[in-house]
Amino acid sequence: PEPGWTVHADVVVVGSGIAGLTAALELRQKVDHVLLVTKGVLSSGSTIWAQGGIAAALDPEDTPDEHLQDTLVAGVGTCSPSAVRALVTEGPDRVRELVGRGAHFDTQADGSITLTREGGHHRDRIAHAGGDATGAEISRALIAQLDAVRNDPGIEIIEHAMVVDLLTAAPDADGIPGPVCGVTLHVIGEGSRDGVGAALAKAVILATGGIGQVFQSSTNPASATADGLGAALRAGAAIADVEFVQFHPTVLWEGSSALGQLPLISEAVRGEGAYLLNSEGDRFMVGQHELAELAPRDVVSKAIVRMMAQEESDNVFLDCRHLGDDFLRQRFPTIHARLAERGIDMGTDLIPVAPAQHFHSGGVLTDLRGRSTRPGLYAVGEAACSGVHGANRLASNSLLEGLVFATRAAKDAAAVVADGVVRQHEPVDRLGPNALVPATQRPRIQKIAHQGAGPVRDGVGLERADIRLERLRAQFHSDNAVGPAPQVAEWETTNVLQAASVLVRTAMAREETRGGHLRTDFPQQDERWEVRQAASLDPDGAL
Ligand code: SIN
Repeated sequence: PEPGWTVHADVVVVGSGIAGLTAALELRQKVDHVLLVTKGVLSSGSTIWAQGGIAAALDPEDTPDEHLQDTLVAGVGTCSPSAVRALVTEGPDRVRELVGRGAHFDTQADGSITLTREGGHHRDRIAHAGGDATGAEISRALIAQLDAVRNDPGIEIIEHAMVVDLLTAAPDADGIPGPVCGVTLHVIGEGSRDGVGAALAKAVILATGGIGQVFQSSTNPASATADGLGAALRAGAAIADVEFVQFHPTVLWEGSSALGQLPLISEAVRGEGAYLLNSEGDRFMVGQHELAELAPRDVVSKAIVRMMAQEESDNVFLDCRHLGDDFLRQRFPTIHARLAERGIDMGTDLIPVAPAQHFHSGGVLTDLRGRSTRPGLYAVGEAACSGVHGANRLASNSLLEGLVFATRAAKDAAAVVADGVVRQHEPVDRLGPNALVPATQRPRIQKIAHQGAGPVRDGVGLERADIRLERLRAQFHSDNAVGPAPQVAEWETTNVLQAASVLVRTAMAREETRGGHLRTDFPQQDERWEVRQAASLDPDGAL
């Protein structure tokens, strides 16, 4: 497709979760024109689904050093210590700024923020809002700030706008693409901006979230289709830690036919004292880890997977009955209501749970300023691999990463634009991936990825998945099955296939078990693998 329209901005921010909204608000104070584009409406995306909270050393007894220590332990040797240091030292101030931006966290009688505990934390350091509706409150507050400046010519918002691809300037003599200089957008129903168009800018910040739709079941919303990962790869940027996918231990088990986004039962429920029970009613986490049910998330997920295999069951149980119905209703109103809709009473019933995909620790490889390996391109939040999560993200560090690194990236992009050195490059004519995958293929890809690269992996299953995905890639590389006017669902499915392929390849290569990556054929951690795997596409599109 040809671009039907073109807009210009200093910086384009893609995505409107905590990272994208924070970057846009920060940039607005510093550059003449920021453009925020988002695939749905401002409040769609993963942030509003975040329940537990946001971690920061806010308690006077707590220190960033202790938060750093817990984060490094959860990341199992593959975090970037300097990135974690930035996260934990700047985190408390960023959370206080969020309060300044109007976010209402739950507080104590003395007005201080109430802090709770989640897996892997040795201190109470999780701030929450509305009990278990933290992401929704943060999203509300940031969108209210944006609404207040909607008429400001310095900021423009385009909703229902999917980023199809990054625009890059002409490649150099070695075929390396030139700087990223904008995005191609597919916009639905936005007046003169309807259809495929281009946004040209001196810098692009990807805040597109995760890859949940690569899997059959996930806590992520339908919009999590690896769009940033796909676009960055096609633009020649490096990605890293792709094999490290976090499976949340306690997602409501609704039967094997329940696919798509599944209800999360926050780790904060265990933080408040809930137990994990097997079908005999035994607390199987006791004795497996000093923190029992509150061990890091990968440890708990693995223990559940093993228990389910041992019992030949599809789920284990979460038991909150001893916490009392009044407390549960008041502390977890969202979860309580969601379970009640399904006929489960948290106060009297056991809750069937099993691990499901939750978070992607990997993503577009970035430095401490959010810069990717391609000039002009930044990535922040779940779309990025900043190095703060390593092999397994510590609970409630994701909203914090979005805040801290979006602020860093926005400051850097603003400084780069303001110093006038970066000019607006002309894009080469490149409009979207040249081999599109029909949306009807998505369930097939999800099944292959789930079976091969789900919570439990082995070499045989990964190889089988790789062969099947390669067959699909070859088929759609040669066919023009989608026709001349692809829709958002096809661009998305193309990204889902691309992410699934890279995930399977990187998981095959990592012959060990570490964090979110569990290989039954290599069950031990191997110190030779205490490294991050980065990947990029060559000019022919091969990994
Ligand atoms: C949860 O509430 O369990 C999710 C929090 C997180 O993913 O960090």
